[in-house]
Amino acid sequence: MSLANTFTALFSGNPEIVCEAPGRVNLIGEHVDYCDGFVMPFAISDRTYAAIKRCPDRKIRISSMQRPNEIFETSLDDLQPSGEGNWERYICGVIWAFGDHITSGLEILVDGHVALGAGLSSSAALECSVAFGLDQLFETRFSLAQLAKLAQRAENDFVGMPCGIMDQSVSLMAQAGNALLLDCRDLSTEQIPLDLASAGLELLIIDTQAHHALVDGGYAERRASCESAAAKLGIKALRDCSISELEDSRSKLTELEYMRAEHIINDIGRVHECVDRLKNNDFIGVGNILAKSHASLRDLFEISCPELNLAVDAALENNSLGGRMIGGGFGGSAIALFKVADIAQAKRAIAEAFKEAGFTEPRFFTSLPSAGASVTN
Ligand code: GLA
Repeated sequence: MSLANTFTALFSGNPEIVCEAPGRVNLIGEHVDYCDGFVMPFAISDRTYAAIKRCPDRKIRISSMQRPNEIFETSLDDLQPSGEGNWERYICGVIWAFGDHITSGLEILVDGHVALGAGLSSSAALECSVAFGLDQLFETRFSLAQLAKLAQRAENDFVGMPCGIMDQSVSLMAQAGNALLLDCRDLSTEQIPLDLASAGLELLIIDTQAHHALVDGGYAERRASCESAAAKLGIKALRDCSISELEDSRSKLTELEYMRAEHIINDIGRVHECVDRLKNNDFIGVGNILAKSHASLRDLFEISCPELNLAVDAALENNSLGGRMIGGGFGGSAIALFKVADIAQAKRAIAEAFKEAGFTEPRFFTSLPSAGASVTN
């Protein structure tokens, strides 16, 4: 059944609006968003759809196409950031973050097509599809940057995951055919054309299917180290420090803080370098940058895992121009840049390497850079 038909079967009447928002792949700039750095993600074609209708009472009823026999019910007056619940918390968090702008009850049915737990930001897709729809229905007319901050607040303060601003920003602001260069300090953007196909290239997304639970402590611990390093250096965020300044201040930091800061500062540098390389169609250079970022995430930031390392190593052994883990880490997906002609053999070799290592079979995706959130036609 279609989303609209299921909506009518579950709730009363037709949805007033259906909106969609995509997941993302981050090309370069990892864990630097909460350090006020620069990142360059792009939106993938997989997206989440949200069908929404306002109701005369103050009840909120939420369901999903993936679990249509479960309806979660609450009230506008009972939305509390309690940290309890499941996927519906992301939606409740967005409604909560809109505050007094939401003046009536809601019926919401979502249809998620961004792979869960794959590090492709299914949570931001969910938040942004709902946030975009509520902004339209209640005519709040927030800018995309304001909506991104609102969705981030839902995740930070309602769900309890201290994420940065990257995923929500790209889910809302992406444009087809482009990667999004985002300054995470002021949310200014530049669309960077990413036309791999004309160069005979493709970016393979390898979902390792390894566990990926950002609400676990590893992400928050990395963020805390970066913030304590910045505080000891007397700066607002690690974005405000160069590598030579970091070296000069080595004695102020613990060994661990130093390693984390070294990754952050270099990865921000790699974002700018990658923009230059893309503008010059230097894809060998792009591949090298990806490989360096992976080594840094593995050795300095220590958020990779055996499955991600194997995915990247096996890709490199099979003619990849370069690859790296993406997202929060500790599982999820890696990306690897290939000549189109090399992809089929590389997929076979990577799957074989996973089998030999006794890992779960990886899933392969590919996606052109796609558009951000919109009303679904
Ligand atoms: C997760 C967070 C983002 C970002 C990435 C790592 O996806 O939601 O804010 O920090 O990890 O770059």
